[in-house]
Amino acid sequence: MKILGIESSCDETAASVVEDGRTVLSNTVASSLEEHKLYGGVVPEIASRRHAESISGVVKQALEDANCTMDDIEAVAVTYAPGLIGALLVGVNFAKGLALASGKPLVPVHHLRSHIAANYISDADIEPPFLCLVVSGGHSHIVAVKDYTKFEIIGKTRDDAAGEALDKAGRTLGLPYPGGISIDRISPEGDDSAFSFPHPKMSSPYDFSFSGLKTAVINTVHNAQQKGEEIPVADLAASFQKGVVDCLIGNLEKAAVDFGYDKIVLAGGVSANSCLRRRAKEMCNNHNWSLKLPELRYCGDNGAMVASQGYFEYIAGVRADESLNAYATMPIDLATF
Ligand code: KG4
Ligand code: ZN
Repeated sequence: MKILGIESSCDETAASVVEDGRTVLSNTVASSLEEHKLYGGVVPEIASRRHAESISGVVKQALEDANCTMDDIEAVAVTYAPGLIGALLVGVNFAKGLALASGKPLVPVHHLRSHIAANYISDADIEPPFLCLVVSGGHSHIVAVKDYTKFEIIGKTRDDAAGEALDKAGRTLGLPYPGGISIDRISPEGDDSAFSFPHPKMSSPYDFSFSGLKTAVINTVHNAQQKGEEIPVADLAASFQKGVVDCLIGNLEKAAVDFGYDKIVLAGGVSANSCLRRRAKEMCNNHNWSLKLPELRYCGDNGAMVASQGYFEYIAGVRADESLNAYATMPIDLATF
């Protein structure tokens, strides 16, 4: 069964055809990232305009690359929440029109659910239940994935998401956007024990807080600037990355032990981080837990993960009609139709 997936929640306009939730037949992405780099972060208005310009061509290309027409497609899956509202609306409205014109069912897909589904792609063996650390630019969650469409939030960030904190720290250090990728690249050149950043304790041991770490980096940089000292960019990047990864892995490990999970999965843009991937492998080796990491090309936003999750939502009976709206926020566990 072939599902067409459409994604436009942030700065990537993406479409893909995936067969039976796991086999990628095409994966087309048009990104407006280069333009956002000029401003040090995603400019929502620019993202929406670029989506509107490229969505038609991207979907056409995804169908062509998969050697398909709409006649071969079972359903149209689209990201409807959470994300930048103007950006989401482009994908949702295009998908509504396409579904209506072709007479195919429309399947709404939650963005974080699709990040988790990136792990099902090209891997027939991975199936729920498992414990997943979902870390992206906008979210940091520890999620119990009970089934393909059944989720329970165990922990989440109280303030900044991990990716957001990495991006802001990267900007303060004068590194190119997105800071997460830049910090990952430069960290091997630095000493990760040069600076010690706080590991905040929350009332729930599974929740995160990254704004204190972020402020600590900003203050360190500003103090050095005021004293006219050279900023040790690589040391600060490596130490900050270690601080973030310590928090993520520490809480994930505690949640897995407390809730009895021996199957661990990572998802979202930050799951591309080499330090996080290495530390997750070490943790799982130590406990004899299994670990699934998404392929690097499916860590960031893409249409294949939407088509994959769309397949599982579709067979669970999830459908939307032409009244489907987009939502900037939507909890992963309550996103039901
Ligand atoms: O999942 P994603 O592509 O978009 C959202 O749903 O937000 O995640 C984007 C985030 C950005 O904050 C970016 O800096 C981060 O993922 N990121 C990384 C790496 N690659 C992307 N963070 C750390 N290390 C990386 N290699
Ligand atoms: Zn994302």
